[in-house]
Amino acid sequence: MANGTKNVLVTGGAGFIGSHVVDTLIDNGYTVRVLDNLAPPTHNGKLPEWFNKKAEFLKGDVRIKKDWRKALNGVEAVIHLAAYMDQHPDFSNYVSTNVESIALMFESVVENKIPIKKIIAASSQSVYGHGKYRCKNHGSIYPEPRTINDLKNRRWDYICKDCGETLTFLPEKEDDTLFPQIPYGISKLASEQLLMNLGKKYGVSSVISRVSIALGPRQSFRHFYSGALRAFAVNVLNNEPIKINEDGQQSRDFVDVRDTASAYLKVLEDSRADFQIFNFGSGNNTKIIDLAEMVSNAAEVPFWPSLNNRFRAGDARHSPMDMDKLKALGWRPKYALAEAVSEYLKWVRQFKNLKENLDKNYDQLKKEGILFGY
Ligand SMILES: NC(=O)c1ccc[n+]([C@@H]2O[C@H](COP(=O)([O-])OP(=O)(O)OC[C@H]3O[C@@H](n4cnc5c(N)ncnc54)[C@H](O)[C@@H]3O)[C@@H](O)[C@H]2O)c1
Repeated sequence: MANGTKNVLVTGGAGFIGSHVVDTLIDNGYTVRVLDNLAPPTHNGKLPEWFNKKAEFLKGDVRIKKDWRKALNGVEAVIHLAAYMDQHPDFSNYVSTNVESIALMFESVVENKIPIKKIIAASSQSVYGHGKYRCKNHGSIYPEPRTINDLKNRRWDYICKDCGETLTFLPEKEDDTLFPQIPYGISKLASEQLLMNLGKKYGVSSVISRVSIALGPRQSFRHFYSGALRAFAVNVLNNEPIKINEDGQQSRDFVDVRDTASAYLKVLEDSRADFQIFNFGSGNNTKIIDLAEMVSNAAEVPFWPSLNNRFRAGDARHSPMDMDKLKALGWRPKYALAEAVSEYLKWVRQFKNLKENLDKNYDQLKKEGILFGY
């Protein structure tokens, strides 16, 4: 415990990352209050049974100022994780949940002179958009998204517009130029800027965490985050081939949610993190086909991949993260990806309607012109 921050408010603390953060804080002696609206798609209105009984729970909404006022009373630090995610057509909800919530939090702090010392907010890797690449003739390039026509014709990789060379990916760094491509990512970038601006103005130490793809138990299978692990788990549990998008060679930075939770503790306790932006990944880049094989191994079934020109429009080809900045504070990931996969599989086995939920998501994505080949 540092900087006199004993009482911490975690918004979205009933969710996936939030509930692990709550456990980590409580294990480290903090008093924790959670503000969460328990709304779909993550919840069905009920507090999940894994919610830590030692935390205080306030049902409320980060889009409502009086809920902030109540939640902030008596706390010294906030970890703001509540968010609206994925790709949905109610665009204004990204702004109200992800951006306006920061404004409402500060209005409550300023109007009521609440002595908050530190605010840490979850942003996302989505702010990097398609990321940074290198052309051997033209140096570093931020490529344009691949078109649907490119993807239909299996042109998976980015090509230099000037010389036609295939580009090689570079790990995303906190000071890269940002090109978010979807309303969710745009709202996360706006939330970063608003938090830093108001934090500096009112002397509240502010920290941004750009989360990559956290994996592990308690992850809602009702929304699209970490689609690959959930989809592959559904495939192996239904004894069907693992349906892999593109050619399976695309890659992501997956991180065990317990390492994400320890990263939040690190930046909460270390004043060197104040007014800084950090990537919250693992620093390990994994090909999607290798994740699929890990899921088969964890389920102890033969690896049965199916590659059939499926793709999601707008997906980045590679999303590697550079973790040097957080590591410089002494944080290290402790868990191998195979452990996160196996913990997740153990957890999802208890649910009966996994395939139904996945199919529902796929139908919606197909209708919205995002998912092809399913
Ligand atoms: N899971 C990931 O891999 C990932 C990746 C990038 C960024 N993030 C960010 O991390 C944070 C946590 O994500 P998660 O995966 O745990 O999601 P989650 O859906 O499991 O948890 C979010 C929680 O916020 C709550 N919430 C949503 N809207 C709310 C509102 N208006 N008022 C109060 N509570 C509300 C939900 O009920 C839920 O409990 C989010 O900010 C998300 O954008 C997550």
